[in-house]
Amino acid sequence: MTDSVSFETQGDIAVIRIDHPPVNAASHAVRAGLVAAFDRFAKGPEKVAVLYGAGRTFVAGADISEFGKTPKEPSLPDVVNHIEAQEKPVVCVIHGTALGGGLEIALGCHYRVMLRGARLGLPEVLLGILPGAGGTQRLPRLTGLMPAIEIITSARQVPAQEALELNIVDALSDAEPLTAGLNFATELLVTGPKVRRVGELPAPKVDQDAVDALRAKLAKTHRGQIAQVTALDAAVRGAALPFAEGLAEERRLFMELFNSPQRAALVHAFFGERKVAQLPELKGVQPRATAQVGVIGGGTMGGGIAVACLLNKLSVTLIERDQTAADKARAGIEKMLADSVKRGKLSPEKRDALLNDALTIATDYAALGQYDVIIEAVFESMDVKKEVFAALDRVAKPGAVLATNTSYLDVNEIAAVTSRPEDVLGLHFFSPAHVMKLLEIVQADKTAPEVLATGFALAKALKKVAVRAGVCDGFIGNRILKTYRAAADHMVLDGASPFQIDRALVDFGMAMGPYAVADLAGIDIGYMTRQRLLPTKDPRDRWGDWADKLYELGRLGRKTGRGYYIYDDESPRGRPDPEIDAMIAEERARRGITPREFTDDQIVERYMAAMINESAKVVGEGIAKRPLDVDMVLLFGYGFPRWRGGPLHYADQIGLDKVLATIKAAAQEDPYFWQPAPLLEELVAKGRSFSSLNGE
Ligand code: 3HC
Ligand code: NAI
Repeated sequence: MTDSVSFETQGDIAVIRIDHPPVNAASHAVRAGLVAAFDRFAKGPEKVAVLYGAGRTFVAGADISEFGKTPKEPSLPDVVNHIEAQEKPVVCVIHGTALGGGLEIALGCHYRVMLRGARLGLPEVLLGILPGAGGTQRLPRLTGLMPAIEIITSARQVPAQEALELNIVDALSDAEPLTAGLNFATELLVTGPKVRRVGELPAPKVDQDAVDALRAKLAKTHRGQIAQVTALDAAVRGAALPFAEGLAEERRLFMELFNSPQRAALVHAFFGERKVAQLPELKGVQPRATAQVGVIGGGTMGGGIAVACLLNKLSVTLIERDQTAADKARAGIEKMLADSVKRGKLSPEKRDALLNDALTIATDYAALGQYDVIIEAVFESMDVKKEVFAALDRVAKPGAVLATNTSYLDVNEIAAVTSRPEDVLGLHFFSPAHVMKLLEIVQADKTAPEVLATGFALAKALKKVAVRAGVCDGFIGNRILKTYRAAADHMVLDGASPFQIDRALVDFGMAMGPYAVADLAGIDIGYMTRQRLLPTKDPRDRWGDWADKLYELGRLGRKTGRGYYIYDDESPRGRPDPEIDAMIAEERARRGITPREFTDDQIVERYMAAMINESAKVVGEGIAKRPLDVDMVLLFGYGFPRWRGGPLHYADQIGLDKVLATIKAAAQEDPYFWQPAPLLEELVAKGRSFSSLNGE
């Protein structure tokens, strides 16, 4: 065998154990070990085999880190076929999660026992591929076609009871994995061990109307993505073919997806999501405690941060300015928790316990005296923030971590009003803070390593994707946003309409275009930012002044029912407001601009070039440590399509020389705005990619 797969005989039973931490992924050593183990079983005296996994889970799928490397025999489909072809029965035990290739291995076995708390699924589409080791052919033979396609295309994890009802597993067990397997095998020995191959079951029936309806739905819900619909095709085509031919067709479609840019982008996102929290300089650094969190300010963000903590078992004390504000903050938190109850994420009893036992709302900072982490989320004003941090410096215990949720302001300046700047950092949550996955952890000049590590520990407790950022106006995300929004404004000044821009970017895959985002965030936010930057504005900097006009007219976006779009009963999600076009036309006339046409492709090209250029500056200046950090910020906080991997992964895919050429062409018209990032120029000159800087 190999180190990763062991073989042992217990009476008439062969016990085959996969032990390949951390998640028993089907790496080459596992695949080779399985073939060797089943060869030995085939030749040996044992009458039944039990296959199970050591550690926390059965096989979590193919080894994703092998993707893109030279494939090594045996392939996973060959391994699964080899197990299924055994002439003596094979029992598989599923514990933890049997995912992707893990479930496919289980489906190659003749019997499946599942531990009651375990889950199984085929999440391949999340990586831009389809189940490529028989999953699209075997699962439908057990469940029927439509339930299998639903599981495959939704990538959801099926709980044990449902797996039993769907005929995916034969029995549930409460025992330890090995005991569960031995018990089942022992019963088989009594009743007469029989081989039962899923691949020999009849093909499932096809309900063409149901298939067509689901296909249309998937094309809509997964706009731009190819994996979901291709996976459906693999299962449907297989139903009309002999089993072996179905497998071959599945393999062909799998390879098509495997070689697509979407697969590369989604795998980049999978590892990027995990790598952002791995900073070499924090290796071995012990974080401080995070059990008790204080929050200052209970508005939009403070309330959301408090709820994020409560939902993740952290107790919270929130401080507001006065009793009226405190009552308002409580009502806001109650509403957010009520929504969680409504969505079935929280029981009413749990909600009551959180509100009564885990949340305190006070108006005196002294209540925070013994707290581990205190997060400030008051108004975005340097003066107010300074007052708050001076007060915190007086009451917080030594070693407490003091964080600001500021969106743009200088964290060094805030830290400097305390006697302990080493304890201060930025924790930049995104709205709504209990929903959005991104957390920027802003390291100021004097932030101590264990304080930074505490930020990451808190993020983990809150199940956030945390990215380290340096200090600058807007950190990683908002700084880049400011630039690509400006590029959009320039195109509007020159002739594009905001609605065309939004539409072109949604077609590209963005969750929303910049003007729909402005309406959602509130037109006042952009206005305040521009006011703050007005004193330092360079005369060459072109701003779209119509946005200020919107503010002056009280059209603040969704919250007032009108911004760029009109929100009412007729169009709760907004319809373009024709008055906007008129306002913009007026501004063009005032500036003497003759509008010109932009194609959707030109819009996307310019917008992405601006985003990539600013991203490259952010990396070049060390505000983000690696390109992948920028990519994850844009994926988890700004609606960038995951299947395009983030702006810098996307830049690598379209070619950095092409991006630089777009920037240089645009610079002919506006050399001030379109100054190429030195890092981008350097990479192009050396023929290198952003990914070469990720340490991948
Ligand atoms: N291959 C390689 N590494 C994997 C892996 C896989 N399939 N699954 C997880 N890992 C690694 C992670 O990168 C992480 O490494 P790190 O510690 O160095 O960052 C480590 O295992 C632990 O993973 P998590 O931090 O995600 O651990 P959790 O306990 O939170 O989650 C899990 C465990 C639910 C198994 C989750 O890791 C997961 O969803 N993994 C991916 C499962 C998947 O997509 N499987 C399908 C693969 S494609 C396939 O099978 C193709 C086939 O059809 C041919
Ligand atoms: P908000 O106006 O909704 O809430 C601010 C709250 O702070 C108010 O309830 C106010 O009563 C309270 N407050 C003010 N001074 C206080 C003091 N001295 N002590 C105690 N409480 C005080 O503002 P919002 O949107 O929650 O923003 C808060 C911070 O979060 C700002 O720095 C903002 O830039 C940042 N932020 C905002 C995001 C958003 O989308 N709204 C996103 C990310 C960060």
